[in-house]
Amino acid sequence: MIRSRTLITAALLALSALPAWADGARTYQSTCAVCHSSGVAGAPKLGDRKIWAPLIEEGQAILTAHGYVGVRGTPAKGGKPDLSIEDFAAAVVHMLNASGGKWSQPDAKGFAAIRAEIVKREKELAAKPGK
Ligand code: HEC
Repeated sequence: MIRSRTLITAALLALSALPAWADGARTYQSTCAVCHSSGVAGAPKLGDRKIWAPLIEEGQAILTAHGYVGVRGTPAKGGKPDLSIEDFAAAVVHMLNASGGKWSQPDAKGFAAIRAEIVKREKELAAKPGK
């Protein structure tokens, strides 16, 4: 009993020491995979390079921001209202890099660009709902 508790504590410590990209994989599994692993409702499927290629072209700031705010069938924040921009962005990096992209976790400048796109997108949607 004591031993298994020690093991659990060790496992939790190991998890908390994982780099951001690993958190991205975890967020993907827990929040995004339900749609993106099989392509539910037209969700771009993980690993399908052909589908992701034009989206990768849009650039990391725009794609991350649009996904975060919600695009057509994709729910805002992947359907998890308390998901932070950082966790969402890490999940996007994980998804894109498994689908032909070579993105890294955004730095401070990258997040500033993502936040600016989120504001822009929210204004667009307020003016033209459903776009
Ligand atoms: C309920 C299903 C569902 C869940 C859960 C979901 N998505 Fe999506 N996602 C979609 C669908 C459907 C689309 C395609 C939207 C379209 O183009 O019509 C999409 C598109 C996207 C896109 C491309 C956006 C663009 O500009 O075309 C990104 C990025 C994305 N999702 C990221 C995520 C991430 C990250 C998560 C988890 C945190 C997530 N999604 C969770 C259904 C989902």
